[in-house]
Amino acid sequence: MTRVIDGNAVAEDVRSDLSACVDSLADADVVPGLATVLVGNDPASETYVSMKQRDCEEMGLNGVHVELEAEASPEELYDTIEDLNADPEIHGYLVQDPVPDHIDYDEVLRRIDPAKDVDGFHPANVGRLVGGNPRFKPCTPHGVQKLLEAAEIDPEGKDVTIVGRSSIVGKPLANLLLQKTDGGNATVTVCHSRTVDMAAKTRGADIVIAAVGVPELVDGSMLSEGAVVIDVGVNRVEADTEKGYELVGDVEYESAEGKASVITPVPGGVGPMTRAMLLYNTVKAAGEQEGVTIDLP
Ligand SMILES: NC(=O)c1ccc[n+]([C@@H]2O[C@H](COP(=O)([O-])OP(=O)(O)OC[C@H]3O[C@@H](n4cnc5c(N)ncnc54)[C@H](OP(=O)(O)O)[C@@H]3O)[C@@H](O)[C@H]2O)c1
Repeated sequence: MTRVIDGNAVAEDVRSDLSACVDSLADADVVPGLATVLVGNDPASETYVSMKQRDCEEMGLNGVHVELEAEASPEELYDTIEDLNADPEIHGYLVQDPVPDHIDYDEVLRRIDPAKDVDGFHPANVGRLVGGNPRFKPCTPHGVQKLLEAAEIDPEGKDVTIVGRSSIVGKPLANLLLQKTDGGNATVTVCHSRTVDMAAKTRGADIVIAAVGVPELVDGSMLSEGAVVIDVGVNRVEADTEKGYELVGDVEYESAEGKASVITPVPGGVGPMTRAMLLYNTVKAAGEQEGVTIDLP
């Protein structure tokens, strides 16, 4: 019998634990502040930032949204970043990716105060993660780690194959699972577009994590019996629905479910965890910047 991990329920547990932290901060007159910066009007990005702002509202955080025109110069964005770095009421912020082509996203990341970099993408924070002393764990990889923990799946000693080596999911997740700490100690293989015989790498794994952006790339034939399958992918594919599309993961759910002992659905698996872990990082940043000790979950 395959166990389906309910990401919404796990995310709700994280939020409920975080609420206690928000209360402790309120006792010290601190309201965690999260700013989202959007350059341009990419529809998917607009949806993502509005969900992040809604999450802030629901958690009693101070959510601030800054919007710049698609034609805004890099300097305008840098000014916004300087303002946010200096704003004592903003403890964390992010610049929603993608930014328009005339803006260098890496340069944007370098200008964010690492103490407020709640996405965990600043080079200093990437270095800390790789070095085994993370300040902010990037939200999606951290969410995957929490999902495994909630499902009582300890990666220690397990063979984990991650499909995808992006800087926001695959690479930081590989680093988290490699760490010599609880929630780590796995033997990690990372596949990408140049990997030869990927199916052999996934079949040899106890835990398969797909973060590719290719609909249903990983199917049941690529899994060993009883594998744990975490599907990070969110892909829109045309469908006969009201919206004209449906969301599918990077895993072919039907065939994978037949093989897996544990699986995450899309939607309702990793997605809600990513949002919860952004709140987590914001609350953590507020505690650190205000010198208030909080008991993070
Ligand atoms: N649920 C969430 O909260 C959440 C958060 C972030 C992302 N996502 C989803 O996760 C997926 C991945 O996102 P991302 O930002 O990591 O994507 P990305 O930056 O496009 O990276 C995709 C990775 O997959 C590899 N890849 C592409 N095609 C492949 C193939 N046929 N075989 C093997 N590897 C292949 C690429 O290899 P190369 O490096 O060789 O190009 C790359 O490393 C997307 O569906 C995205 O929407 C979900």
